Amino acid sequence: MNIISVKNAVYVYNSGLEDEVMALRGVSFDVEQGEFISLIGSNGSGKSTLARLLNGLYLPDEGEVIVNGKSTLTAKHKDMFDIRRTVGVVFQNPDNQMVASIIEDDVAFGPENLGLPSAEIKERVEWALDRVGMSEYRKGTPFRLSGGQKQRIAIAGVLALMPRVMILDESTAMLDPRGRKEVMDTVRRIREKEGMTVIMITHFPDEAALADRVIALSEGRVVIDADAHRALSDVETLRQYGLDAPLCTRVAYELRKRGVELDGNIITDRELREKLCRSK
Ligand SMILES: Nc1ncnc2c1ncn2[C@@H]1O[C@H](COP(=O)(O)OP(=O)(O)OP(=O)(O)O)[C@@H](O)[C@H]1O
Ligand SMILES: [Mg+2]
Repeated sequence: MNIISVKNAVYVYNSGLEDEVMALRGVSFDVEQGEFISLIGSNGSGKSTLARLLNGLYLPDEGEVIVNGKSTLTAKHKDMFDIRRTVGVVFQNPDNQMVASIIEDDVAFGPENLGLPSAEIKERVEWALDRVGMSEYRKGTPFRLSGGQKQRIAIAGVLALMPRVMILDESTAMLDPRGRKEVMDTVRRIREKEGMTVIMITHFPDEAALADRVIALSEGRVVIDADAHRALSDVETLRQYGLDAPLCTRVAYELRKRGVELDGNIITDRELREKLCRSK
């Protein structure tokens, strides 16, 4: 069964007003449990709006979003609660996501709101902090952490809700390269260990290349939905939508233009190295 199904979803801000914006113009796709998808698209293409539709924070003006078999449009209180628990979102700025002055209290905030028994909350907090590699900091304050560490705590806070789907909305955008790597390694580890479905919104093509499938939005529409190798190696199509391919892909593209024989779709540095060693 699809964990998420989006059918012709339309979303309009300030409907009927002078400053009306049609942020999503009929978006459709399905997500299977366990998939790792990167969602890309230039500024204002509708990615964050879509993330909010996927966890029921916004409701579509037309079409439908179905999470775990339930439509967000018709979900009553209990079903909406279930939808919010199924799809957890980590946002861009970790500072806006911190609510408590002690790290373990911060991570416990979500499970406490679910009304779970305290023994289970404790267990979940320990598990979530372990998964993001931050157990040793649990008694400390989040304010002194680096950006990457703060974002890992924010991820732990969402993990502690045990969502089946985790959406990361540009969760590495404000971090330096080291912080970005920390967060990406954390996401990779969680995926491997928990088989969680991940939808990662990113501006960085080399991050998008870590996913199995790429969905690209342009002006509120899905313009690419394909396996990551196919989507990200198509330099010209990406360019048409104002997007960059990963650096190694662009290098391969330029080398091919100059007559170097490189076969297959190259989207990681390792693939480029291997193909270069074998090329004539
Ligand atoms: N609260 C809002 N009120 C009015 N318009 C909005 C609001 N939020 C977003 N928009 C508009 O909706 C469109 C889609 O915005 P959205 O934030 O979903 O794009 P995005 O792909 O996440 O962009 P970015 O890459 O900059 O994060 C844009 O035109 C944006 O200006
Ligand atoms: Mg956004």
